[in-house]
Amino acid sequence: MEHPLQDKLGRPIRDLRISVTDRCNFRCSYCMPKEVFGDDYVFLPKQELLSFEEIERLTRIFVSMGVKKIRLTGGEPLMRRGLPELVRKILAVDGVEDIGLTTNGLLLGQQAQPLYDAGLRRLNISLDALDPELFGKLNGRGVDPSHVLKQIDHAKAVGFEIKVNMVVQKGVNESEILPMAAYFKERGITLRFIEFMDVGNDNGWSFKKVVTKKEILQKLQKVYELEPVDKDYYGEVAKRYRFAGSDAQVGFITSVSESFCSTCTRARLSSDGKFYTCLFATEGFDIRELIRNDMMDDDSLFEAISAIWQGRRDRYSDERTEQTAKNRHKIGMSYIGG
Ligand code: GTP
Ligand code: 5AD
Ligand code: SF4
Ligand code: SF4
Repeated sequence: MEHPLQDKLGRPIRDLRISVTDRCNFRCSYCMPKEVFGDDYVFLPKQELLSFEEIERLTRIFVSMGVKKIRLTGGEPLMRRGLPELVRKILAVDGVEDIGLTTNGLLLGQQAQPLYDAGLRRLNISLDALDPELFGKLNGRGVDPSHVLKQIDHAKAVGFEIKVNMVVQKGVNESEILPMAAYFKERGITLRFIEFMDVGNDNGWSFKKVVTKKEILQKLQKVYELEPVDKDYYGEVAKRYRFAGSDAQVGFITSVSESFCSTCTRARLSSDGKFYTCLFATEGFDIRELIRNDMMDDDSLFEAISAIWQGRRDRYSDERTEQTAKNRHKIGMSYIGG
């Protein structure tokens, strides 16, 4: 690449978040509320999902556009069969510098070791509470947090670098901020507090339900001394702090109170092969159709995808209002991959 591809706001493409399934074994109310994703909900049939070969081919094309970091997401990515094979294929693509996986952790018992053996090193594991009753309610399946904690210990023992993601909602799990911080500080695992976002159309979001970084930090600083840590790389999503006198860190993902669209380098690929240039997109570009109908060779695909990135102007979180949150028909988080 002589010159990196840039969008209309001068942002290069660096990361590709690939959703490998729209299914999940949890029903978090802010992502897949039970009332919408009930027993009769129709998920994508297998033949609609991109095959591993198709994902590999697209990864190669995205890498030639400037992508260096891949993140596998879902739904719950561990529900996609044979994931270690996909990790191997992606890591074999020349130019992929980093690959991570975002998961609820429940299925790591069987999969942590094979994924590690395939070359995966980084896991982001979601956990919103340590209190059993509250966590059972939040995950919509009554699953006890001890199951996730056990898998976190297991994955750590296997050798993974782990971060924990906690979505904080006002009046719901604020009481868990300090217990979660204490628990993960002790284990040297970075805990990241995520501001509740208006993803999808069904998650009951309003500004009032957001607990901001500032509020969380104030709570933490009553107990801990925290020192800001420099960003690791351009466009890093989290703002991080170190507990004084320790290597343990906490992070904040401030999509609502301090949006980070101006450095957003992320493209998204849904499990059925649609390309999105924003988490809050209203429509995607169907790449699967182009590759399945043999309509395009790699060069033409490169041109088509590049043109979309070059036309990109998304900055939803910079412009968010109570009104846009309500009236815009957004793509669901479990489908677009977070
Ligand atoms: P690292 O490579 O480990 O930094 O991963 P990450 O933090 O980018 O990925 P992860 O899947 O753990 O996402 C954490 C939170 O950040 C989730 O709530 C995502 O939805 C949110 N997030 C990630 N990228 C974006 C983005 O481009 N825009 C917004 N608004 N939120 C994002
Ligand atoms: N707001 C903020 N974060 C969310 N996540 C899912 N839904 C939301 C939301 N509405 C988080 C998950 C996971 C990551 C991919 O996104 O908890 O950690
Ligand atoms: Fe599943 Fe993650 Fe969505 Fe919860 S947030 S329903 S664990 S995909
Ligand atoms: Fe990027 Fe859209 Fe998130 Fe802004 S809201 S950081 S443009 S994905």
